[in-house]
Amino acid sequence: MRTVILGISAFYHDSAAAIIIDGEIKAAAQEERFTRLKHDPGFPIRSIRFVLDETGVAYDDLTAIVFYDKPLLKFERLLETFHAFSPRGLKSFITAIPVWIKEKLFMKKLIRNSLKEFGKGKVRILFSEHHLSHAASAFYPSPFEEAAILTIDGVGEWATTTICYGQPEGIKIIRELHFPHSVGLLYSAFTHYLGFKVNSGEYKVMGLSPYGNGDSVQFKIFKEKILAELVDIREDGSILLNMRYFNFATKLTMTNDRRWQKLFGVPRRSPESAIHQEHMDLALAIQEVTETIVLALVHTARKITGSKNLVMAGGVALNCVANSKILKAGDVDSLWIQPAAGDAGGALGAAYAAYHIGLGGPRKKAGIFDSMQYAYLGPEYADQEIIRAIRPYEAEYEHFKNFDHLTAFVSEKLAEGNIIGWFQGRMEFGPRALGNRSILADPRSEAIQKKLNLKIKSREGFRPFAPSILVEDLCDWFTLDKPSPYMLLVASLKESLRYPLPENYFTGDLYERLYHIRSRVPAVTHVDYSSRIQTVSFESNPKFWGLLQEFKKRTGCGMLVNTSFNVRGEPIVCSPEDAYRGFRHSEMDYLVMGNYLFDKKEQRALPLKYAEKIIFPSD
Ligand SMILES: [Fe+2]
Repeated sequence: MRTVILGISAFYHDSAAAIIIDGEIKAAAQEERFTRLKHDPGFPIRSIRFVLDETGVAYDDLTAIVFYDKPLLKFERLLETFHAFSPRGLKSFITAIPVWIKEKLFMKKLIRNSLKEFGKGKVRILFSEHHLSHAASAFYPSPFEEAAILTIDGVGEWATTTICYGQPEGIKIIRELHFPHSVGLLYSAFTHYLGFKVNSGEYKVMGLSPYGNGDSVQFKIFKEKILAELVDIREDGSILLNMRYFNFATKLTMTNDRRWQKLFGVPRRSPESAIHQEHMDLALAIQEVTETIVLALVHTARKITGSKNLVMAGGVALNCVANSKILKAGDVDSLWIQPAAGDAGGALGAAYAAYHIGLGGPRKKAGIFDSMQYAYLGPEYADQEIIRAIRPYEAEYEHFKNFDHLTAFVSEKLAEGNIIGWFQGRMEFGPRALGNRSILADPRSEAIQKKLNLKIKSREGFRPFAPSILVEDLCDWFTLDKPSPYMLLVASLKESLRYPLPENYFTGDLYERLYHIRSRVPAVTHVDYSSRIQTVSFESNPKFWGLLQEFKKRTGCGMLVNTSFNVRGEPIVCSPEDAYRGFRHSEMDYLVMGNYLFDKKEQRALPLKYAEKIIFPSD
């Protein structure tokens, strides 16, 4: 009989569901993609429906359902934290308690009630510890038989960082760092202070950090103050936060703004306000401090496990600048990072933990790269479904019988400077679009960055876009010799492809610096000549690989701008209807879905009822 495990993560942020059958991952998706609410923390009923439908599993056939953390342990942390900091924190305690009593403490009942529509059988419900879920999501789909495992995030139940050892017999937790001392929360505190949203704006801090001037006195003072006042880093990478400066244990905010302002001499930046050099220098300072901690943790993990393989998960593992420093430091030979490193991936990890650790299931041999199927684990739509979905919009389209002809046409239009929505195959699991729900453009164009920012994404982003590159061409462009199929590593552009910077470059305004033409591929070159890379191979994504090949044939450049297919505060598109709405809403020139091409110039005015549908709530 098959062993079928449904993993669920919910009630924090990025709820998700995943299903594994006999140890093999079959489907996974985040709830936000279906509900269209970014980072939706609700019970992932629609993701569950999708993974069950996709695999043809009936509810009563499930061997077990497993939740990605242990609510009782979390509740214990809440009580003990209140006790330790009392009477501070009374307000946040009072706010949190009713939700806990109403929902989270009775999670089994809540899960059963929520799943009633699928069946009445009594499927076993299990709970995995939060960091064990992260650890399992990092180790079991990795290509390694044994590996050191490092999980770093904000907080789970108590743990904020763990070092584990994964081997054929299972996962051994070796060291844990406990709340409130947390690398993730330290980074989030800076995210908050720099005026970005916690739990989603962290990548903006990372993107801002290369604008910091590492030679400046201001930067050096900021870094010294962080190390002297905010965080004590021990040799093994464990940390102690000075809780006089942080509010997250007792209040509903992250930082004690008054004390931070006194310490740094910089007030908290209000969201959407101008970004000045002091903000960029603060971003660089916390990025470098985080890298110091991560590298010390990696060194410790290597030392105490003896393994030269490292796998990682937890939100901090999405910090691709830090990840690349790990590779450079040379403590480990091989590094694998779970693409859904945040809490969405906890659903998958919980399912793996239940199967391999709870039920003693054997490990399957990994695929060519790993067992994640390049993260293409979400819904896929056949040509007829695409046409059915967009019929009410009276869309004009052209059908290409031969996909190669479509690819040739698209590459020509890209080379002419057009921006193209590319919707193919199964949706990606995790935060990145990897060529199945992507917006593509020519990285050589000097105008494309601005056009993408303003006309497609409706924002003035300060980060350049990421390139997708043919894996076989990687070394011709970048100083990276390892594939990066999940866009989790950064690499430097080769010196010969760079253009020199003007002398007063570091005194220039942020956007002047962003739009300065720095290289042969300006749309994807950051101010420090780095790029966040996705390598594409024939095995990983034959259609996307074919398009890159075709673009290279035409232009000599086997690389495209790849930004996630979403507009204006929406999650990445999931269905053909989402994609068509995004296409009509923005100034995208073409949309390709399956074998269909939609040309913006050919589209008719929308029927009134549907015209309203392309207006987004945040407009
Ligand atoms: Fe987490």
